[in-house]
Amino acid sequence: MDNFSIGYANIALVKYWGKKSKNPVLPFNPNISLRLDSLYSKTKIEKSSSGYDEFYINDKKQSDKEVSKIINFIDKFVPSKRERIKIISYNTVPTAAGLSSSSSGTMALVIACNEYFKLNKSTEQLIKIAKEGSGSSCRSFFKMASWLEDGTVKEIKCNLDLAMFILVVSEDIKEISSREAMERCVKTSTNFKEWTETAKKDFDSMISAIEENNFTKIGKITESNALAMHSTTKCATPSFSFLTEESYEAMDIVKKIRNSGIECYFTMDAGPNVKVLYQKKDHDKLYEEIKYLWKKKIIQCMV
Ligand code: ADP
Ligand code: DP6
Repeated sequence: MDNFSIGYANIALVKYWGKKSKNPVLPFNPNISLRLDSLYSKTKIEKSSSGYDEFYINDKKQSDKEVSKIINFIDKFVPSKRERIKIISYNTVPTAAGLSSSSSGTMALVIACNEYFKLNKSTEQLIKIAKEGSGSSCRSFFKMASWLEDGTVKEIKCNLDLAMFILVVSEDIKEISSREAMERCVKTSTNFKEWTETAKKDFDSMISAIEENNFTKIGKITESNALAMHSTTKCATPSFSFLTEESYEAMDIVKKIRNSGIECYFTMDAGPNVKVLYQKKDHDKLYEEIKYLWKKKIIQCMV
């Protein structure tokens, strides 16, 4: 694809929310995700003609803060004596809106660096590098992946045909990044310890549910885990929430459709948008119902 490297978005069914260690990046609790292949970033690197390192997303020049963030990251694994570069990236999802642009963007960037600087790294090495850029990106290398407290990233086999819709509440850049938000929760949330304990149990139950092909159990854990993660934001100082009134309306729609007999479950990340987990066999009838009840944008995600 015209020298572009691709990285995919992934959505956690059991969330990564809090770093136990920053160097190397390790999560407080094991987490598990589903990759959304239709939501991706594509990135290529060229020699810079300006004499400075440059970074563009969707043709928009990124701020100095963004450039230094990305350059600090890549300078940890590319040759120290290098020419100035221009990073050109396109996101198919809104950037920094809670739709996982950090995971697709980081995966694409790491692969693009591997190509441009001829690093010859194995996939396993690229996964290790990616998580230092953005924790969740290490899971994007597999359709379903777990990331454990010791840093291991594993592919998870799932026999169910899962998919997601996104009920878009807002495509705006969030006020607080995932990174800052989780850091605040680790430091100040009065229920952070409780969250990690819940998430550890959720992870074990999720693994069994996947092995049992038990979609009902997968869905219930997905919902309750997302709500538990979001409750840590309310117990932080200063307290905050990614969810808006419209997010709650979207969650109600999901519950209503489920009660009418089409099995689907919600999850939310660091942003107001609501993702709907379902089985592909239910796609057509679920889409009809969602279209009827949700009047704003809907993104259909292929897995
Ligand atoms: P999101 O919910 O979209 O993942 P985050 O706040 O977690 O939002 O991450 C947004 C950050 O991810 C951006 O500030 C940028 O540093 C990084 N990012 C987003 N898109 C790309 C990209 N295409 N290439 C490299 N980094 C990216
Ligand atoms: C809510 O991976 O974006 O989406 O490691 O600081 O870059 P950093 O954080 P990031 O956080 C993702 C948080 C989440 C939950 C998840 O994807 O597991």
